[in-house]
Amino acid sequence: MESKATAGGDAVIKIGDKTVNLPILKGTVGPDVVDIRKLYGEADVFTYDPAFTSTASCESQITYIDGDAGVLLYRGYPIDQLAEGSSFLEVCYLLLHGELPNAAQFVEFERTITYHTMLHEQFDRFFGTFRRDAHPMAIMVGAVGSLSAFYHDSINIHDPKQREISAHRMIAKMPTIAARAFKYAVGQPFVYPRNELGYAENFLRMCFAVPAEDYKVNQILARAMDRIFILHADHEQNASTSTVRLAGSSGANPFACIAAGIACLWGPSHGGANEEALNMLREIGTVDRIPEYVQGVKDRRYRLMGFGHRVYKNYDPRAKVMQRTAHEVLEVLGKRDDPLMKVALELEHIALNDPYFVERKLYPNIDFYSGITLNAMGFPSEMFTVLFALARTVGWIAQWKEMIEDPSQKIGRPRQIHTGPTERAFVPIEKRG
Ligand code: ACO
Repeated sequence: MESKATAGGDAVIKIGDKTVNLPILKGTVGPDVVDIRKLYGEADVFTYDPAFTSTASCESQITYIDGDAGVLLYRGYPIDQLAEGSSFLEVCYLLLHGELPNAAQFVEFERTITYHTMLHEQFDRFFGTFRRDAHPMAIMVGAVGSLSAFYHDSINIHDPKQREISAHRMIAKMPTIAARAFKYAVGQPFVYPRNELGYAENFLRMCFAVPAEDYKVNQILARAMDRIFILHADHEQNASTSTVRLAGSSGANPFACIAAGIACLWGPSHGGANEEALNMLREIGTVDRIPEYVQGVKDRRYRLMGFGHRVYKNYDPRAKVMQRTAHEVLEVLGKRDDPLMKVALELEHIALNDPYFVERKLYPNIDFYSGITLNAMGFPSEMFTVLFALARTVGWIAQWKEMIEDPSQKIGRPRQIHTGPTERAFVPIEKRG
């Protein structure tokens, strides 16, 4: 990746009697950044930013978020336009290559992904080694990491062709692995992919078809699934993406890096939040219990799951599309009066008008409505983060690939402020009090 950052003057900082000039860099959009790379060398100090709230960890040309305005762009295209007019595979191409595909490029890309969806037959035996009640995310972390043991021919990260093949393999095989993790948990036989079906359609069939009867995928649900994948495809330098980049910075193979991203995504403050949001709606149960629950949030006994975001201090643009998708799915499944949806809509209404949430700029995030939607489609809550991982895989790969192709790339190595013991002499055990 060629740098597109431009010079924007200097920031001058004074540390003791030293004055240090630090270059300011301008991106194509978004806040300027102060380039502190020379700070330690020149002033012998580190910066301190443990949760990276003020730190840009890389230059990227993939995804842009304006959290105050509630804007999300993939390669410049607004998320709502992509969710409305595009398909997940088109978005995959866009994220990987930087431009939307023309018709011929799309046909070729779709064919490549479609013809990589099968897993090595020996791989299926791997699933059988898990306990039958294993969380599907535990299976995902293990299965995706173990792809590197099956596909040795695409783990040379310095070969662009191999990088491309491993990218295609992961995008293609993730639905097959995710569906197997689901089938394994419910004790049903694995369903093989079918090449005549679209990406989301194929995934739904692999999850819900059983050998005992024919299964025809509902096209509205397939479109909703595809849109959910688009909404989750990338989100710049979030915790799991940063994990993928950090793991990749050491030269680890792409399958291992994506497995690291999946592990990070699993946490309830990140990808696990949709499961928590649905559990919360179930716990509230009925609209009349909302005020009591909201009071508990204000008393800081718990958080409103599916609300708030490190970057969005406005309505998450993905949550708007997700809310529409939830309505569509509930309508087609004859669940228009879903009690959980009623609780969600009322809770959102109350929170958006309550000073406690307004002052803290807490708005629904994508997870608030995704749990209801996926639950209505037939997925148990343990599968929600799996679906997120499936969709985010392309974002992780695009970011990993961009990093590898960045000539300034080095191993990531943060520093620390040490507050532990200073040097002291070892005391033999018989002399310790
Ligand atoms: N419910 C109630 N209060 C909240 C919530 C919430 N969901 N989120 C933040 N707050 C409050 C905090 O208590 C804090 O209040 P204070 O200033 O009075 O102490 C203030 O808002 C700021 O909160 P922080 O924790 O500093 O915000 P941060 O940016 O670190 O947290 C996070 C972001 C982790 C997403 C948080 O909003 C949260 O826990 N939300 C619930 C979990 C969730 O939905 N996660 C999904 C994120 S989206 C994704 O990963 C796809």
